[in-house]
Amino acid sequence: MTDTSTGNADYRDAGLVFPDGFVFGSATASYQIEGAANEDGRGPSIWDTFSHTEGKIWNGDTGDVADDHYHRLDDDLDLMKRLGLEAYRFSIAWPRIQPTGRGPANAKGIEFYTRLVDGLLARGIRPIATLYHWDLPQALEDEGGWANRATAHAFADYARIMGEALGDRVVTWTTLNEPWCSAYLGYGSGAHAPGRTEAAAALAAVHHLNLAHGLAVAALREVVTNDPDFSITLNLHVLRGEGETGPEAVRQIDGLANRVFLGPLLDGVYPADVIADTADVTDWSFVQPGDLELIHQPLDLLGVNYYSTTLVRVWDGVSPRQNNDGHKDMGGSAWPGADRIEFLPQPGPYTEMGWNIEPAGLEELLFSLHEQYPELPLMVTENGAAFADEVADGPDGRVVHDPLRTDYLRRHFTAAHRAMQRGVDLRGYQVWSLMDNFEWGYGYSKRFGIVYIDFETQERVLKDSAKWYSELIATRSIPA
Ligand code: NOJ
Repeated sequence: MTDTSTGNADYRDAGLVFPDGFVFGSATASYQIEGAANEDGRGPSIWDTFSHTEGKIWNGDTGDVADDHYHRLDDDLDLMKRLGLEAYRFSIAWPRIQPTGRGPANAKGIEFYTRLVDGLLARGIRPIATLYHWDLPQALEDEGGWANRATAHAFADYARIMGEALGDRVVTWTTLNEPWCSAYLGYGSGAHAPGRTEAAAALAAVHHLNLAHGLAVAALREVVTNDPDFSITLNLHVLRGEGETGPEAVRQIDGLANRVFLGPLLDGVYPADVIADTADVTDWSFVQPGDLELIHQPLDLLGVNYYSTTLVRVWDGVSPRQNNDGHKDMGGSAWPGADRIEFLPQPGPYTEMGWNIEPAGLEELLFSLHEQYPELPLMVTENGAAFADEVADGPDGRVVHDPLRTDYLRRHFTAAHRAMQRGVDLRGYQVWSLMDNFEWGYGYSKRFGIVYIDFETQERVLKDSAKWYSELIATRSIPA
């Protein structure tokens, strides 16, 4: 096992310079920031339903208002400009475009994202658009959601609508954000919307999400006119094995978390061992002839979201079973067919999510992807940390001192830089998140922003980490 203390102790190389062309930005997602849940024709999504269901979200929080970004778009764009962002990674709410997930586009929805993209371009900020960051139209879930193959085709129609609307301006298209979460937390563990706990449905969802990606890239290619980059963002798991059974546990979880996506997307095959491991759950008959060719579309960029590492072993069947996979336990399993895998706690330090801080994992992940797929450019599409921030009055207005977040970012930028020095073709880095927001099952209790949101007044306050990041962007080198 990697010595995590080393990962935490160094990775603080101030002064490292990033090359020209490396794109510094920040990321958000529609349901987490927009609010205006019932306005301008937006239909309900699975997250509206889920967050309004008692007991699902911390404190009963919902995304109804969130950061009220929908009404504060111009101010938020100015804020991005003030920070010096070179890119902004946002997501489009499918139910604003097609309130029931099918049918003609809602003009008001198109108008909002047109204003957003034009506002970015006017400020010299590169738009990185994600088509799906988890807000599935509820009407499609009512027909089976991602466990239903038809959802993949509906997604391609939606992608085409967006390509027609913005396909002369968006620079990078990302089809899906973290399909692992959509499939396994949405349909396996039940910690995320729609909250289903059906192992077989979770694996069907994996395949239909992969298929949706392939169909969407094909549809976009037919309509866009500006030669954009096509990408997908994955939350690949960096795995550590504990003890003698570590390698076997790593193999199983690597299969379910990583290779079940990388295999079809980049190599055009599902890993045989994953199919065998899950034989008691499903016969994989949802994979139809021709699907793998559709999924295996040429990609211009792979988005990598990285926060932490995962430690596993095979449970001995005797000692009390540990299970700490970094996600809320809602009754189901996030790991179909891996019933005997234990997720072990790791040495700290930790963020407020309880996730261990290990920048070495980011370097390792980027490097191993580079070794496996040397021709594929990479981008860190999310990295950041939740800490318990406090806002205080300073001489020139309100301030938030968040040295832990700055330190986290410094170490992870260092890790990314080290990977680049080892030959990794890393094109940019999007910090999660531009501003505090609705952290899914944790509601507003976890703050990931470099900008603080006062949820009472909607005031935006730059945290110290935002100022540090501005300096990094302006100088292209890691500030002390
Ligand atoms: C990944 C997700 O894409 C994002 O929505 C979430 O807020 C962050 N991780 C932090 O958990």
